[in-house]
Amino acid sequence: MRSLDQVLQDGIRDIQDYPQAGVVFKDITPLLADHSGFTQVVEALAASGRDADGNVVVDKVVGIEARGFILAAPVALALGTGFVPVRKKGKLPSATFEESYALEYGEATIEVHQDAFAPGDRVLVIDDVLATGGTVEACLRLVCRCGAEVVATSVLIDLSFLPWRERLAGERVDTLVTV
Ligand code: PRP
Repeated sequence: MRSLDQVLQDGIRDIQDYPQAGVVFKDITPLLADHSGFTQVVEALAASGRDADGNVVVDKVVGIEARGFILAAPVALALGTGFVPVRKKGKLPSATFEESYALEYGEATIEVHQDAFAPGDRVLVIDDVLATGGTVEACLRLVCRCGAEVVATSVLIDLSFLPWRERLAGERVDTLVTV
Protein backbone atom coordinates (compact mmCIF):
# COMPACT_ATOMS: atom_id res chain seq x y z
CA MET A 1 0.00 0.00 0.00
CA ARG A 2 1.23 3.51 -0.79
CA SER A 3 1.90 5.90 2.06
CA LEU A 4 -0.68 8.64 2.61
CA ASP A 5 1.95 11.20 1.59
CA GLN A 6 2.45 9.37 -1.70
CA VAL A 7 -1.32 9.16 -2.30
CA LEU A 8 -1.64 12.91 -1.76
CA GLN A 9 1.35 13.64 -3.97
CA ASP A 10 -0.09 11.43 -6.73
CA GLY A 11 -3.64 12.78 -6.46
CA ILE A 12 -3.40 16.56 -6.07
CA ARG A 13 -2.20 18.51 -9.07
CA ASP A 14 -1.40 22.19 -9.57
CA ILE A 15 -3.37 24.10 -12.19
CA GLN A 16 -1.65 27.38 -13.01
CA ASP A 17 -3.66 30.59 -13.36
CA TYR A 18 -7.03 29.11 -12.28
CA PRO A 19 -9.55 30.56 -11.56
CA GLN A 20 -7.59 33.72 -12.31
CA ALA A 21 -4.10 34.77 -13.35
CA GLY A 22 -1.49 34.32 -10.64
CA VAL A 23 -3.45 31.70 -8.69
CA VAL A 24 -2.24 28.07 -8.50
CA PHE A 25 -5.34 25.89 -8.02
CA LYS A 26 -5.06 22.60 -6.11
CA ASP A 27 -7.08 20.10 -8.18
CA ILE A 28 -8.15 16.99 -6.24
CA THR A 29 -10.04 15.28 -9.07
CA PRO A 30 -7.17 12.79 -9.74
CA LEU A 31 -7.36 11.76 -6.07
CA LEU A 32 -11.14 11.31 -6.23
CA ALA A 33 -10.74 9.07 -9.29
CA ASP A 34 -8.22 6.83 -7.47
CA HIS A 35 -10.26 4.31 -5.44
CA SER A 36 -7.50 3.13 -3.11
CA GLY A 37 -6.15 6.66 -2.66
CA PHE A 38 -9.60 8.13 -2.00
CA THR A 39 -10.25 5.34 0.53
CA GLN A 40 -7.02 6.13 2.39
CA VAL A 41 -7.82 9.84 2.45
CA VAL A 42 -11.34 9.24 3.77
CA GLU A 43 -9.93 7.05 6.56
CA ALA A 44 -7.31 9.69 7.40
CA LEU A 45 -9.92 12.47 7.59
CA ALA A 46 -12.22 10.22 9.64
CA ALA A 47 -9.45 9.64 12.20
CA SER A 48 -10.25 13.08 13.66
CA GLY A 49 -13.63 11.67 14.70
CA ARG A 50 -12.11 8.79 16.70
CA ASP A 51 -10.29 8.62 20.04
CA ALA A 52 -6.90 6.97 20.57
CA ASP A 53 -8.57 3.53 20.87
CA GLY A 54 -10.42 3.98 17.58
CA ASN A 55 -13.83 4.64 19.13
CA VAL A 56 -16.06 7.08 17.26
CA VAL A 57 -16.52 10.25 19.33
CA VAL A 58 -18.78 12.29 17.02
CA ASP A 59 -22.50 12.12 16.24
CA LYS A 60 -22.55 14.05 12.96
CA VAL A 61 -20.16 14.95 10.15
CA VAL A 62 -20.57 18.35 8.48
CA GLY A 63 -19.47 18.96 4.88
CA ILE A 64 -19.03 22.46 3.46
CA GLU A 65 -20.27 23.06 -0.10
CA ALA A 66 -19.09 22.10 -2.58
CA ARG A 67 -15.90 20.04 -2.47
CA GLY A 68 -16.34 19.47 1.26
CA PHE A 69 -19.46 17.42 0.43
CA ILE A 70 -17.44 14.95 -1.65
CA LEU A 71 -15.12 14.24 1.27
CA ALA A 72 -17.53 14.52 4.20
CA ALA A 73 -20.23 12.10 3.02
CA PRO A 74 -17.90 9.07 2.85
CA VAL A 75 -16.28 10.14 6.15
CA ALA A 76 -19.74 10.09 7.77
CA LEU A 77 -20.37 6.60 6.42
CA ALA A 78 -16.92 5.43 7.58
CA LEU A 79 -17.68 6.69 11.10
CA GLY A 80 -21.25 5.40 11.10
CA THR A 81 -22.76 8.87 11.63
CA GLY A 82 -25.19 11.12 9.81
CA PHE A 83 -24.07 13.81 7.35
CA VAL A 84 -25.08 17.50 7.52
CA PRO A 85 -24.60 19.85 4.56
CA VAL A 86 -23.54 23.47 5.13
CA ARG A 87 -24.54 25.23 1.94
CA LYS A 88 -24.16 28.54 0.18
CA LYS A 89 -27.06 30.91 0.81
CA GLY A 90 -30.38 30.08 -0.80
CA LYS A 91 -29.86 26.34 -1.37
CA LEU A 92 -31.43 24.79 1.73
CA PRO A 93 -35.23 24.42 1.68
CA SER A 94 -36.22 24.56 5.38
CA ALA A 95 -35.57 27.19 8.10
CA THR A 96 -31.86 28.03 8.35
CA PHE A 97 -29.28 29.89 10.38
CA GLU A 98 -26.84 31.90 8.28
CA GLU A 99 -23.38 33.34 8.82
CA SER A 100 -21.46 35.71 6.56
CA TYR A 101 -17.72 36.11 6.16
CA ALA A 102 -15.38 38.35 4.21
CA LEU A 103 -13.89 37.32 0.89
CA GLU A 104 -10.98 39.11 -0.78
CA TYR A 105 -13.61 41.17 -2.62
CA GLY A 106 -17.02 41.21 -0.97
CA GLU A 107 -18.77 38.76 1.28
CA ALA A 108 -20.13 35.20 1.24
CA THR A 109 -22.93 33.62 3.28
CA ILE A 110 -23.36 29.98 4.28
CA GLU A 111 -26.35 28.30 5.90
CA VAL A 112 -27.38 25.21 7.82
CA HIS A 113 -30.83 23.87 8.67
CA GLN A 114 -31.84 24.94 12.17
CA ASP A 115 -32.90 21.38 12.99
CA ALA A 116 -29.82 19.68 11.51
CA PHE A 117 -28.47 18.60 14.92
CA ALA A 118 -29.83 17.14 18.12
CA PRO A 119 -28.98 19.24 21.20
CA GLY A 120 -25.41 18.54 22.28
CA ASP A 121 -24.47 16.63 19.13
CA ARG A 122 -20.70 16.26 18.81
CA VAL A 123 -19.59 17.31 15.33
CA LEU A 124 -16.67 16.75 12.95
CA VAL A 125 -16.35 19.44 10.26
CA ILE A 126 -14.78 18.46 6.92
CA ASP A 127 -13.58 20.61 4.01
CA ASP A 128 -11.05 20.34 1.20
CA VAL A 129 -8.90 23.46 1.65
CA LEU A 130 -8.03 25.98 4.38
CA ALA A 131 -6.92 29.35 3.05
CA THR A 132 -8.07 32.41 5.02
CA GLY A 133 -10.10 30.17 7.34
CA GLY A 134 -13.18 32.35 6.87
CA THR A 135 -15.39 29.53 5.60
CA VAL A 136 -14.57 27.12 8.42
CA GLU A 137 -14.82 29.90 11.03
CA ALA A 138 -18.35 30.75 9.80
CA CYS A 139 -19.23 27.05 9.78
CA LEU A 140 -18.12 26.68 13.41
CA ARG A 141 -20.38 29.60 14.35
CA LEU A 142 -23.29 27.93 12.57
CA VAL A 143 -22.84 24.62 14.39
CA CYS A 144 -22.62 26.47 17.71
CA ARG A 145 -25.84 28.39 16.98
CA CYS A 146 -27.59 25.04 16.45
CA GLY A 147 -26.67 23.96 19.99
CA ALA A 148 -24.14 21.38 18.83
CA GLU A 149 -20.43 21.15 19.69
CA VAL A 150 -17.55 20.96 17.21
CA VAL A 151 -15.07 18.31 18.37
CA ALA A 152 -12.63 18.79 15.49
CA THR A 153 -12.19 20.12 11.98
CA SER A 154 -10.40 17.93 9.45
CA VAL A 155 -9.25 19.39 6.15
CA LEU A 156 -7.38 17.85 3.24
CA ILE A 157 -5.10 20.74 2.20
CA ASP A 158 -3.48 23.40 4.38
CA LEU A 159 -2.45 26.46 2.35
CA SER A 160 0.04 27.45 5.01
CA PHE A 161 0.95 30.76 3.36
CA LEU A 162 -2.57 32.01 4.12
CA PRO A 163 -3.68 33.13 7.59
CA TRP A 164 -6.18 30.46 8.66
CA ARG A 165 -4.16 29.47 11.74
CA GLU A 166 -4.56 32.84 13.43
CA ARG A 167 -8.25 32.88 12.59
CA LEU A 168 -8.91 29.41 13.99
CA ALA A 169 -6.59 29.70 17.01
CA GLY A 170 -7.96 27.66 19.90
CA GLU A 171 -9.82 25.22 17.63
CA ARG A 172 -8.70 21.68 16.94
CA VAL A 173 -7.82 21.59 13.25
CA ASP A 174 -6.21 18.57 11.56
CA THR A 175 -4.86 18.74 8.01
CA LEU A 176 -3.45 16.00 5.80
CA VAL A 177 -1.05 17.95 3.59
CA THR A 178 0.62 21.35 3.85
CA VAL A 179 1.54 23.36 0.78
C1 PRP B 1 -13.17 27.00 -1.21
C2 PRP B 1 -12.80 25.74 -0.47
C3 PRP B 1 -13.06 26.09 0.97
C4 PRP B 1 -12.79 27.58 1.02
C5 PRP B 1 -11.48 27.86 1.69
O1 PRP B 1 -14.54 27.06 -1.38
O2 PRP B 1 -13.54 24.64 -0.93
O3 PRP B 1 -14.41 25.82 1.35
O4 PRP B 1 -12.75 28.04 -0.34
O5 PRP B 1 -11.19 29.23 1.71
P1 PRP B 1 -11.10 30.08 3.03
O6 PRP B 1 -10.29 29.31 4.03
O7 PRP B 1 -10.38 31.33 2.56
O8 PRP B 1 -12.49 30.38 3.51
P2 PRP B 1 -15.25 27.67 -2.67
O9 PRP B 1 -16.57 28.16 -2.22
O10 PRP B 1 -14.32 28.64 -3.33
O11 PRP B 1 -15.33 26.47 -3.68
P3 PRP B 1 -16.23 25.18 -3.88
O12 PRP B 1 -17.68 25.59 -3.77
O13 PRP B 1 -15.82 24.71 -5.22
O14 PRP B 1 -15.87 24.17 -2.81
